[in-house]
Amino acid sequence: MKTITNIVVLSVMLALSLPAVSQNTESLYKAKCAACHGTDGAGNTVVGKKFGAKDFNTSELKNETDQGFVDAVKKGRAKMPGFANSLTDEQTKALVKYVRGFQHHDTGAQTQPNTAQTQTNNDGWKAVEDALARKGDLLPGDVIRINMPRTDLHVTLNGTEIKPALALGAWAAFHRIGKEAMIMGDLVLTEDEVAPVMKVLHDGGVEVTALHNHLLGEAPKVMYIHMGGHGDPVKMAETIKAAVALTKTPPPAGAAVKQPEELAFDIPAIEKIIGQTGKVSGGVLHINVPRAETLMQHGFEVPPSMGAGTSINFQPIGNGQAAIAGDLALAGEEVEAAVQALRVNGIETTALHSHMLDVQPTLFYVHFWATDDALKLAKGLRNALDKTNSVKPAMNAKNSQTPQ
Ligand code: HEC
Repeated sequence: MKTITNIVVLSVMLALSLPAVSQNTESLYKAKCAACHGTDGAGNTVVGKKFGAKDFNTSELKNETDQGFVDAVKKGRAKMPGFANSLTDEQTKALVKYVRGFQHHDTGAQTQPNTAQTQTNNDGWKAVEDALARKGDLLPGDVIRINMPRTDLHVTLNGTEIKPALALGAWAAFHRIGKEAMIMGDLVLTEDEVAPVMKVLHDGGVEVTALHNHLLGEAPKVMYIHMGGHGDPVKMAETIKAAVALTKTPPPAGAAVKQPEELAFDIPAIEKIIGQTGKVSGGVLHINVPRAETLMQHGFEVPPSMGAGTSINFQPIGNGQAAIAGDLALAGEEVEAAVQALRVNGIETTALHSHMLDVQPTLFYVHFWATDDALKLAKGLRNALDKTNSVKPAMNAKNSQTPQ
């Protein structure tokens, strides 16, 4: 992590000496391209070397036509992913022009093509699962999510006993990028666990990107550390394990036979109102609603399965009623309308803050809590979601009690 940060800082300094260009194109380049090509176009960032990016300032690339560059950026070239879905034609052309700015007209020394081996390892995620001593769920986008629920905590809020799956589910998600991984996750902590956990994460190269509450008025009080990072997945998994070991989080329960769970409210009706299929686990219905934009971090796409979108949880409390908790992922300009929509629907906002430091576009999280008729709450949440650029209702929800 430190090396990447140093290189980024250094590259930003180099970038200051480049000819002036449109601010937009420059920030687009930094967001989508600089992770591999460097802010100086030399392609020798840690990640760039792994992917085999080349210096733009070589005669080979100077001789490539603009159309050749446009095609490469759209469709991908060697290990470079294609950007056809995430850049407009105009943006692509502007970026190609920007890239030309790295090419000087001297015939100076050329950088040797980088021949670093970048094949992805095929052993799946076993090493990460072993390092964390827990099994994970394989999710789309080459992501593994490992859950570490705080089944040891007995937290109540206004008389409702909160199930771990409602709001006490610590987790870490790993997304493979070459031999490295991007991680995101939350740890659920009692107040006295915060300081030691934070130290271990920092020492082990996992970033703490937020520390705060998600609920209001719960007892005992729980705090949430959000984690981020980019690096060796096994080392980050070991660090997270060491951090979790400092808490009272119980070891994973044995491989219980997963049974379809019945919840005392109408799951398909809730899914239909929200417009997304959910999953039932731990006695709670979980529904995720990704953002419509492609999220990017350090030039890499953050797949929706990394958990950066809206997350909604329904816990039955009897008579078709539910306790709901979760968070809406919002752009800054959407926050006020969404919070108002929650309020008029009787849903309390319990926190408003950020979770990640460097994901684009910048997202804020509005945490919510309510107990009421489950369908009424689903409609209230849908109202709030309508104020956001989240993926549109995908369905006609089918009953999908897929155990997690
Ligand atoms: C994940 C790493 C990565 C990212 C992100 C990335 N590139 Fe590349 N890029 C590469 C690699 C690897 C190559 C291929 C080097 C080679 O073999 O020529 C490449 C090649 C290129 C080339 C040369 C194509 C040619 O004609 O040979 C251009 C131009 C380029 N990238 C532009 C961009 C732009 C613009 C962006 C941002 C939208 C971007 N790249 C983002 C890794 C990346």
